[in-house]
Parts: sequence; structure tokens; C-alpha cells
Amino acid sequence: MSQDFQGRVALVTGAARGQGRAHAVAFAERGADIVLCDRCEDSAALDYSLGTRSELAHTEELVTALGRRCVSGQADTSDRAAMDELVRRAENELGSVDIAVANAGVTGVSPIGEHTSELWHEVIGSNLTGVFNTLAAVTPGMIARKYGRIITTSSMMGRGASPAMAAYVASKWGVIGLTKSLAMELAAHHITVNSVAPGNIATPMVQNDAMYRRFRPDLTDPTWEDIAPTLAGLTHLQPVAALDPEEVSRVVLFLAAEASAHLTGMVFPIDAGAGAKNNA
Ligand SMILES: NC(=O)c1ccc[n+]([C@@H]2O[C@H](COP(=O)([O-])OP(=O)(O)OC[C@H]3O[C@@H](n4cnc5c(N)ncnc54)[C@H](O)[C@@H]3O)[C@@H](O)[C@H]2O)c1
Repeated sequence: MSQDFQGRVALVTGAARGQGRAHAVAFAERGADIVLCDRCEDSAALDYSLGTRSELAHTEELVTALGRRCVSGQADTSDRAAMDELVRRAENELGSVDIAVANAGVTGVSPIGEHTSELWHEVIGSNLTGVFNTLAAVTPGMIARKYGRIITTSSMMGRGASPAMAAYVASKWGVIGLTKSLAMELAAHHITVNSVAPGNIATPMVQNDAMYRRFRPDLTDPTWEDIAPTLAGLTHLQPVAALDPEEVSRVVLFLAAEASAHLTGMVFPIDAGAGAKNNA
């Protein structure tokens, strides 16, 4: 494994499981010290469970087993003070935060007539305000050190749309606007800001009972296998229901690499061709 990120510190939000864990381990494998963040708490507005403290602890074990230093914080990205405090702690203990992956997010499906304000605030708070808070916390140090690589996680829904996903779609379009705006603002400080736009990724966000029941209300106990054929034909062009989180990590690593110094303000789809339907 190359040691491209030796001497760098990478912060990853939503790191207890799923894509966040995959990104943290991928950076650690390539030499970076790691800052982990996850709220480790369920939300009453959502119909599926979020990451847990033991899952966050397991990500930390995976990172330290690779010989990397790790600062781990249970923090909600929608809480600006908590994010400022985590970044302060990381900079004190590890010296800097050079790379930030604003990955934490939630999903919620609801027709507009039943769409609660709680679901709206949860999704916008985690997916959009949370990305703003993460970037606001890391950028002062990056500006001072004249170096930074920021990757935000949008979605194929960040340039498309879906019925019954008003808050999610709005939040992910918002992430792209935020990414492009900060790319312009931070370019002169040698900081790049790009976004990844995943398709369906095999994580608990899509692999959960509520999702299975939504797609197969005709079955008593539906499983992933029951919904996979439908998902495969829904949005992706290639006949694959979901991609592995590591497929997203590879693009995140690319955007954080030294060689990507002059790539900024762009959106990179990892979506089995779903983005081919976009206008441009
Ligand atoms: N899985 C997919 O199909 C898919 C597709 C496109 C985009 N995404 C996006 O990818 C990102 C990662 O999702 P995933 O697939 O790994 O899902 P996941 O549910 O497996 O992991 C998300 C993690 O983020 C944490 N989290 C959620 N809200 C948080 C908050 N406010 N503060 C701190 N931590 C928080 C959760 O506890 C969980 O551990 C999300 O932004 C999601 O919207 C996912």
C-alpha cells in the first residue's frame, strides 16, 4: 500500500460505519493520522438506526491497528460548537487537520403531505448545516497552514430528484452549492473543495428493514435480496443494485491526493452511470 498521506491528518465525519468507516481506513492504510466523528445516536425523526458508540470504537480500532494515531469524537455535525471543539482537540493532539471528508448524513422518505418538520430539520441539519459546520471548523487552520483538501458527500440526488425525498434532495443540491462556493473562496489559500455524488451504496442507509418494507410492502419480512433487483433497475445504468463503500473511497483518495492540487469546485459521480441522465 502506498504511503501517500504520511504526515497528513484526515478528518472523516459519519465514521462509525458505512462510507465514513471505509474512508477513514483507506486514509489510515496510506499513512494518514485520523480524526473520527459520529453522533452515535438515533434520531426520532428517522425510521432506521444510525451508527453506535461501539461501531465508532471499532473504526478507531481499525485505524490504530494500522499504526496510526487517532482522535475520536462523539459529535453531531449539526452542532457547530461541538465541531469547533473536535477540530480544536484534533489540532492540539495531532498538529493539524489537512484533509476533511464531510460525509455524515441521513436519509428520509416521505410524501409532502406527511412530511414532518422534524424530518425536514433532521435531514437539513445533518446533511447541509452539518457540512457547513464541518467546513467552518476546519478551514481557519487550513488557511493558516496554506493547505487543505476538502471532500463533501452529496449524492446522485444532488443533481437529480426523486418523489417523496424533498428534504434529502434539497440538502444534497445544497451541498453542491456550498462546495462550489467554498471552492471559489478558498482557491487562493491552496485549499481544494470537491464533492462526491454516490449512487446506491451498500451501507445500512439503504440496507435496513424500513427500506425493504418500503420497496416490498407485499412481503411480511422482506430482505435485501427482495429489493435488489428493483434498485438495480431504478437509477443506475449498469445492472448493479449497490456499489461497495470502498468504490467511493477510491475517488475520495484521488481528490485528496497531491496530484489533484488543481481540481476544485467539481462533483464526481460514483453511481454506475446514473449521472449520464443529467443535463451536463
Ligand atoms: N448509501 C447510499 O446509497 C448513499 C447514496 C448517496 C449518498 N449517500 C451519502 O453518503 C453519506 C454516508 O452515508 P452511508 O451510506 O455511509 O450511510 P450510513 O447510515 O451507513 O452512515 C452514516 C453515518 O453518519 C452518522 N451520522 C448521521 N448524521 C450525523 C450527524 N448529524 N453527525 C454525526 N454523524 C452523523 C451516522 O451515525 C452513521 O454512522 C451520507 O451523506 C449519505 O447521504 C449515501
